[in-house]
Amino acid sequence: MHLLLLHGPNLNMLGRREPAIYGATTLAEINAALEDQATAAGITLTCGQSNHEGGLVDTLQAHWGAISGIIINPGALTHYSLRDALAGMDVPIIEVHISNVYAREAFRHTSVVAPIATGQIAGLGWRGYVLALQWFIDRQQ
Ligand code: DQA
Repeated sequence: MHLLLLHGPNLNMLGRREPAIYGATTLAEINAALEDQATAAGITLTCGQSNHEGGLVDTLQAHWGAISGIIINPGALTHYSLRDALAGMDVPIIEVHISNVYAREAFRHTSVVAPIATGQIAGLGWRGYVLALQWFIDRQQ
């Protein structure tokens, strides 16, 4: 199994960006933890991040037909874009948010991705990514 782990705008700043909301764990640490988890389960994991919608769309399209699933934290794009690019991928998608977006500002309560995602995890910190990957591991067994 080959999975794609994608992070949207500003998530490259994790560890320094609003740590009271997003925690002290860096993106490199999250990716390393998931790579270890994936390797132990015999899964190939490709990690990517872009601050640009087009960069994320290019990465999705470059992997079309070559992956079995997507774990994505679209960042602020969650609330207004990326839906069509993700819907066209034709694989299960787990949407992850570090913070509980539903306990925050009203604009964060709307996800245009959630209706086409298989599931969503919000508010569990960086461990939400671990749980998303575990879902893919469990369903292949
Ligand atoms: C986020 C929540 C979004 O509203 C915000 O724009 C982010 C991070 C989260 O992981 O909690 O960039 O997706």
